[in-house]
Amino acid sequence: MQKPKGTYDLLPKDSKLRNRLEEILKTVSLYYNFKEIRTPIFERSEVFHRAVGDSTDIVKKETYDFLDRGNRQMTLRPEGTATVVRAYVENKLFADPIQPQKLYYIAPMFRYERPQAGRYRQHHQFGCEVFGADSPSIDAEIISMAYNIYQLLGISDLTVKVNSLGDEESRTNYQKALVQYLTPLKDKLCIDCQERIKNNPLRVLDCKIDTFDNPPKMSEYRTAEAKKYFAEVLSYLNTLNIKYEVDEKLVRGLDYYTHTVFEIHATIEGFGAQTALGGGGRYNKMVKQFGGPDVSAIGFGLGIERMLLALQALNINLVGEDYINVFVATMANTKNVGIKLLNELRLNGFIAEISHQDKSLKNQLRQANKLNAETVLIVGEEELENNLVIIKYKGEQKTVQIDKVVEYLDKLELGDYNE
Ligand code: HAM
Repeated sequence: MQKPKGTYDLLPKDSKLRNRLEEILKTVSLYYNFKEIRTPIFERSEVFHRAVGDSTDIVKKETYDFLDRGNRQMTLRPEGTATVVRAYVENKLFADPIQPQKLYYIAPMFRYERPQAGRYRQHHQFGCEVFGADSPSIDAEIISMAYNIYQLLGISDLTVKVNSLGDEESRTNYQKALVQYLTPLKDKLCIDCQERIKNNPLRVLDCKIDTFDNPPKMSEYRTAEAKKYFAEVLSYLNTLNIKYEVDEKLVRGLDYYTHTVFEIHATIEGFGAQTALGGGGRYNKMVKQFGGPDVSAIGFGLGIERMLLALQALNINLVGEDYINVFVATMANTKNVGIKLLNELRLNGFIAEISHQDKSLKNQLRQANKLNAETVLIVGEEELENNLVIIKYKGEQKTVQIDKVVEYLDKLELGDYNE
């Protein structure tokens, strides 16, 4: 039996780092005043078809669709935004007294893509979505939050690309100009892009446009209002000291964006082809499209696996080796007392272990060593007659009264695994 292609097992040796990373992301979310939201792993297919767009690669080629036993068309979520919007509308979070709603998630996503380094069929995203804030300063907050996360982790070999798709009018005007420009050049485009001219011309920018002379520039088709909004976003980014590049060709692979879009790419040597660490943008129309009020929104999604790959490529280690605080070693006749002590230690917050295999003392000490035990407690027969146990700590050995063990260990200030 083998795992499905494009998936991986998170093994115990890697779970400490993964948990630490998630803790950091949760802490940063707290600092930025985001609250967690969890939505189902699957939704009715129309949630994604409607939001992400029927002509996108994600919906056309990559979703895991299935009929449930009641013949309903379901989809494993390929991304988080649409599910969060569905939940926001369904649970009427727009009526919550706290506005804007700032929501985050750490969740698995499923895309039937060709697996390669940094690209999986089940990947995980840390995502943030803000509903009901319509000022350029929140766009800058969202971009800078994503940027600061990488800085905080020590990943600074980055490029931040930003662009503005403008409002509906800007977009319609630009699309018209682009179609006019591309139509006579149709034969030079790939098969996919020939289709895209009809149903999603902006996506052609992702493909071959580089090879053409003077394609129309998005910035020239923005309305005055859209221009002003974008200029203010950039000005706030300057205030926040974010080094960004304006990339006129940045359109993103999902159809729901309006105004600001951005991506953060790794520029780490030898990182591989999948350099997009994260991306996001504004989607001012989706809430209404889902039957909610006219509420604007913006967010991002950062790939957890790519974050881990970047840490690895830069040799950044967020966690130390695994260890335990106390190993309780016993003799055949003292195991009962040892088990009781072990229980007490755990209830007092020590990471504690015992041998359940009735090994010799020598073997138990070896096991303690393998587990990186900070202290070893030996419950010996002779000592026990006087209500004493032996505590080995930093090469020294002491006898301590059995009812004072917790007190004694507390004073040693043993490691906090979560620090
Ligand atoms: P996205 O750009 O499709 O955006 O995905 C966000 C990030 O998830 C990517 O930059 C990448 O790091 C990671 N990612 C995507 N696909 C894979 C994969 N197959 N394997 C590994 N990592 C992957 C979204 O999904 C939007 N929902 C982001 C957003 C939130 N926009 C507004 N709010």
